[in-house]
Amino acid sequence: MKEKIEEIKKSLESDIKNANTLQDIVDLKAKYIGKSGCITELTKNMKDIPEEERKQVGSLANVIKNEANELISNKENEINTIIINEKLAKEAVDISLPATEIPIGSPNILEKVIEDFEEVFMSMGYDVVDGPELEEDRFNFELLGLPKGHPARDAQDTFYVKGDELLLRSHTSPVQARTMLAKGGNEPVRVICPGKAYRRDDDDATHSHNFTQIEGLIVDKNIKLSDLKGTVTVICKKLFGNDTITRFRPSYYQFTEPSVEMDISCFSCKGKGCNICKNTGWITIGGAGVVHYDVLKGCGYDPEKWSGFAFGFGAERCAMLKYGISDIRTFYNTDLRETKPFDRKEED
Ligand code: DAH
Repeated sequence: MKEKIEEIKKSLESDIKNANTLQDIVDLKAKYIGKSGCITELTKNMKDIPEEERKQVGSLANVIKNEANELISNKENEINTIIINEKLAKEAVDISLPATEIPIGSPNILEKVIEDFEEVFMSMGYDVVDGPELEEDRFNFELLGLPKGHPARDAQDTFYVKGDELLLRSHTSPVQARTMLAKGGNEPVRVICPGKAYRRDDDDATHSHNFTQIEGLIVDKNIKLSDLKGTVTVICKKLFGNDTITRFRPSYYQFTEPSVEMDISCFSCKGKGCNICKNTGWITIGGAGVVHYDVLKGCGYDPEKWSGFAFGFGAERCAMLKYGISDIRTFYNTDLRETKPFDRKEED
């Protein structure tokens, strides 16, 4: 028995020497100290050993068992350390290399202009509402004084989607009709609706088949054209600078009476004349007017009791003027090299 233990010891030492991988360790454990390892087997056969030898053999077996455990676990640690060191060496970072440039994004300036509008209007008690871009003819035209066959429909070259009932809204004004109908005709309305609109325009520097408007509507008792002028003037001063002057020119829309075109004094030349304002000193930023009698009526408001004003700002136009952009297509261009120069600086 003693010889057998000596033999195991020798073979263990040589196996340990030759072990290089974690798989070798697994094999070593199985061979020596596993369930049917040779050292485990030794202790299992104790009962066959004569009594006078048993004690001594028992203690020798224990010694070899502890030794095997220790040798194997030391070797395992050694192999693990080698593996970790190799991994670290492979993953080492050369901190002297120049860093990769990570481009920093910036908010879209069109969104920024819309947010500015929203903020100012909300501070004046307006709610921001939404409407569908895929719109019904009824809301886009009929309820706004543009029945089928009306010649003024031609001016809004419309994308029809299904027959002549479903279309891509040609302006954000249908949200006026939707809002009034939803309110039910007996409570005041004070909303703005920024959103996309679509027209079959040929794209060029100042036209896009897809553009953004900021629609507004207020309906209450005794609302007059002067309220529209006051509101728009305050808004424009806040958005374009305190020294901005507003001008309202007579115009025509089917859904407002009277209707106006809204101009602001050119913030670049302060009215003296420059290339931004085409030497007129004024810049047109949208249309507006007093809500037409028939529109109020058609949308459930009694025009004898209620009155209101509405407006529609061109969002791209405002952003182009504010940021000195000369081509509307810039907003819809995904080429960062072209849009980057117009990234909003963190001045705001
Ligand atoms: N919807 C008009 C357009 O797209 C703009 C407009 C004019 C909106 C007058 C209004 C308004 O709310 O009252 O040209």
